[in-house]
Amino acid sequence: MSEWTTIHTPVIAGNWKMHKGPVATREFFHAFRDAYPPHEDRTIVFFLPAISLTAGIEGLGDRADIDVGVQNIHWEPQGAFTGEISARMAWEAGARYTLVGHSERRHLFGETDEQCALKVRAALDAGLTPVLCVGETLHERRAGRVADVILRQLDAVAGVLPPDRIPRILLAYEPVWAIGTGVNATPEDASEAHGVLRDRLHDLVGDAAAAIPILYGGSVKVDNAAALLRAEGVDGLLVGGASLDPSGFADIAATPVAAA
Ligand code: 13P
Repeated sequence: MSEWTTIHTPVIAGNWKMHKGPVATREFFHAFRDAYPPHEDRTIVFFLPAISLTAGIEGLGDRADIDVGVQNIHWEPQGAFTGEISARMAWEAGARYTLVGHSERRHLFGETDEQCALKVRAALDAGLTPVLCVGETLHERRAGRVADVILRQLDAVAGVLPPDRIPRILLAYEPVWAIGTGVNATPEDASEAHGVLRDRLHDLVGDAAAAIPILYGGSVKVDNAAALLRAEGVDGLLVGGASLDPSGFADIAATPVAAA
């Protein structure tokens, strides 16, 4: 367990993956705005399909308490990369965050640690806040390699950033075996992995590590959200499937958080 404490409000984020085009996105936010009143003690972010970003921003209207982001960017600012979008394009379209290195990108699309590092740097260059996802497979967990894997993924990114830029990123610990399986990490498992990451962040940037939120993701539901959010070292939640339903996600977004 890490001895370091953290100093920010929790971040509760939804990752819609490849769900909801512009029409369904408008419908979602119409319902979500009613179901979730603004809360000052947390940050809410939705990672939308890029094509639904404009509809999401329109749907949110005056709800400045809620941010949107994209799920992936290319590391180059422009060029002959058919099908890709750059960080700058996402920013221009209204995104303020981007996921980087989600396990589905790493495992289904072959994204490497080095590419993730370039993407984090490109996001920061464009003014987007990157959420770097790290996490081990079941095989790696059974082999006792959780710390090795998540630190390798973090170190690859830290290696391309000067230390003063590292506190501008967020981390998400998402064990691959917990994603979409209905089997969440226990709060204790999450705390242990978050502690490993926090200790490394402290080595890299000292006391500034306290300001870097580390989110947990993997089968977060309304009935386990509070326990995971209360777990030592867990600064927020990254929710997949359960973020697709407006009233269900409104309940998760409103999870009570401990007083600062
Ligand atoms: P689930 O919540 O559907 O397990 O997905 C987690 C995830 O991958 C969020 O990025």
